[in-house]
Amino acid sequence: MTMHDIKINTERLLLRPLRTADAEDVFEWVGDERVARYMVYTTYSDIEQAREWLAFVEKDTSTYYFGFERVADGKLIGSGDIGVDSSKDCWGFGYNFRYDCWGMGYATEAVKAMIHYACVNFGARKFASSHCEPNLASGNVMKKCGLHFVGYGEFEKLDGSMKMRSMEYEGEITESVF
Ligand SMILES: CC(C)(COP(=O)(O)OP(=O)(O)OC[C@H]1O[C@@H](n2cnc3c(N)ncnc32)[C@H](O)[C@@H]1OP(=O)(O)O)[C@@H](O)C(=O)NCCC(=O)NCCS
Repeated sequence: MTMHDIKINTERLLLRPLRTADAEDVFEWVGDERVARYMVYTTYSDIEQAREWLAFVEKDTSTYYFGFERVADGKLIGSGDIGVDSSKDCWGFGYNFRYDCWGMGYATEAVKAMIHYACVNFGARKFASSHCEPNLASGNVMKKCGLHFVGYGEFEKLDGSMKMRSMEYEGEITESVF
């Protein structure tokens, strides 16, 4: 099995590989400025950008990317990734969801599943992530997944269009936590 075949089932979600055929669904959130606001990417203006990103994801073997599919209706409602963060000697992760799916516990459910997978399959223990200071919902996801606030850092969008303070989180997690 390759990293592009991994599937993880949770109570309400199927975490599965992303593919270029997902571009239309993905564009629903990467093209939404309410979702993109605190992400490193800038709001996509064209579905072609989503196709290009998905083509990159399919080739990138340095990180595990997942589409989050809602089991109830088979709809792709978000995506995330987890991988080794060599600069911090730990595992890092990220996530984003379609706006109309916020506030239902999906992010916590998906991130816990990614962390659990990394613990069980790769012996991952140390995790770190961060969010833009005003993005408190994201901090709450990190706390609910066993990380704690360790200090402030700096966030910058990939295109340099926004810089602001970030809140950094870390945690030592064992598979038995979830
Ligand atoms: C951040 C994001 C992923 C959260 O997803 P979600 O599915 O709504 O998160 P959850 O429902 O699992 O909520 C986690 C916790 O945050 C809390 N929360 C939700 N929205 C909140 C808000 N606006 N302010 C503060 N807390 C909030 C929830 O109440 C929950 O805690 P609780 O269970 O104690 O009530 C989602 O808002 C999103 O996709 N945002 C845009 C992309 C993004 O910012 N990604 C993270 C970049 S670091």
